[in-house]
Amino acid sequence: MPDSQEHLKNDPLWFKDAIIYEVPVRAFADSNCDGIGDFQGLTEKLDYVKDLGITAIWILPFFPSPLRDDGYDIGDYKNVNHIYGDLDDFQEFLDGAHERGIRVIIELVVNHTSDQHPWFKRARKAPKGSKERDFYVWSDTPEKYPEVRIIFQDFENSNWAWDPVAKAYYWHRFYSHQPDLNYENPAVWEAVFDVADFWFSKGVDGMRLDAVPYLCVKEGTNCENLPETHAFLKQLRAYIDAKYPNRMLLAEANQWPEDAANYYGNGDECHMNFHFPLMPRLFMSLRMEDSFPIADILNQTPLIPDNCQWALFLRNHDELTLEMVSDEDRDYMYRVYAQDTQARLNLGIRRRLSTLLGNDRGQVELLSSLLLSLPGTPVIYYGDEIGMGDNIYLGDRNGVRTPMQWSGDRNAGFSRANPQKLYAPVIVDPEYHYEAINVEAQQGNTNSLLWWTKRLIATRQRFQAFGRGTFELLHPDNHKVLAFTRTYNGEHILVVANLSRFVQTVELDLSAFAGMVPVEIFGRSQFRKSPMGFTFSASVPTLSIGLCCNSSKQWLKCCNPNDRNRN
Ligand code: NOJ
Ligand code: CA
Repeated sequence: MPDSQEHLKNDPLWFKDAIIYEVPVRAFADSNCDGIGDFQGLTEKLDYVKDLGITAIWILPFFPSPLRDDGYDIGDYKNVNHIYGDLDDFQEFLDGAHERGIRVIIELVVNHTSDQHPWFKRARKAPKGSKERDFYVWSDTPEKYPEVRIIFQDFENSNWAWDPVAKAYYWHRFYSHQPDLNYENPAVWEAVFDVADFWFSKGVDGMRLDAVPYLCVKEGTNCENLPETHAFLKQLRAYIDAKYPNRMLLAEANQWPEDAANYYGNGDECHMNFHFPLMPRLFMSLRMEDSFPIADILNQTPLIPDNCQWALFLRNHDELTLEMVSDEDRDYMYRVYAQDTQARLNLGIRRRLSTLLGNDRGQVELLSSLLLSLPGTPVIYYGDEIGMGDNIYLGDRNGVRTPMQWSGDRNAGFSRANPQKLYAPVIVDPEYHYEAINVEAQQGNTNSLLWWTKRLIATRQRFQAFGRGTFELLHPDNHKVLAFTRTYNGEHILVVANLSRFVQTVELDLSAFAGMVPVEIFGRSQFRKSPMGFTFSASVPTLSIGLCCNSSKQWLKCCNPNDRNRN
């Protein structure tokens, strides 16, 4: 079998320059008219993904599953759910992505399985104390580990559930149909390594480690981020490094910066980790018109090893989680972003990017440009590139997982099935109706959000400083403006974001770049020096000194004025 990865650049740090696109297979494109997206459909859309400028696709769980948690309840780790296709379809998709230079990240959901997984069915019946029973965490009482919080607060009231077959309680951090695996059992480690082997040997490039802080449990703790969990991750990393070059592990560790950064270890655990605390603060800063929440959390974020990188995101397939903010900030976020209580779920908000931002194109552009310029690798949620809407009246998080809107045709061009057969209805909200918000319409208009996003991605890709550069916050007096620099290999990028609805003036201390002139990256305009130093304007074309127009963003390159190659 030819090496599925042969089309890709041999670079162990590829993920630093990546633009990641998050896609549920079910939601993207339906090739066989059964109303459910599938691998053949996704493969047919790879040219779209490539054209957008994406370099890595992260696909959500596609394994056989009862689908009571959208596939995060796995019934078989080494197969494809027949509704999405089969292993050949998966391989075709993987090869198709690789041929286009796109890497593929899949999910390793090994905190828990479905209660329908053969391991659990076997465990319930196996004798107490046996290796089979001990694949999961059991107790005679639901009082154990009382310090542990409940994550799905709207659905569960305990982390223990009674199993009448085993006649014992089993541990679950999520839904009660998702029993947690027991990492004290070496047979569980072996089983997980075996799953990793199965998919990495097919050629996948990365794995997102779902719910990784909760793997191990210990009396007297909150059962999160335990040293035993880190020990397991180090072993997993060493195992993968030894067998598969250029692969990446992405942790889903929804934790405060210090704890989150621990998932990098000494560069010997995960390569990447989502920056959960930054995400809600981007939205807070925007609404408060104050750079403080962003600057403050970045100041609290430890430096990470050179071979590691944060994954940044604005939205994903879950609710916009507010677990990593204070009670006061959570109240604020609910008040300003989820007035309608129907939009609230667990400790978060089930809305998409555009709907959160009131369909304000300027604000969408501002947050997207921060997503692509702050230190880390951006992860874009499917549909946000066209400003797709959501449906808060669908249960759980299903309202942000509706069919991709390809055109104004039946079912938004997602499927030829009877509209009643779709796995979820398409968006018909008057403001976000698929007849207006779809790929085809936006492809035809170069002023659309889709084209803007393509240009933003292409621009970021011209400067490696965005993916690999150092990060320095500037400290202008005007807190409504967030300004920072990124430097890599002698290339200096200055980013200025006006978080306010109103025009602002700002002075920036650029003494570190003495002798250089800033050149605006998109329009290539050169800025002039004022007696005060450099001051900037987003109100092109007049370049009126010191003005930033509302909700604006600027990327500038600081260049030697005599440099003819100022790209
Ligand atoms: C995190 C996933 O993002 C979420 O969708 C899922 O419900 C939980 N883990 C449980 O697997
Ligand atoms: Ca289908």
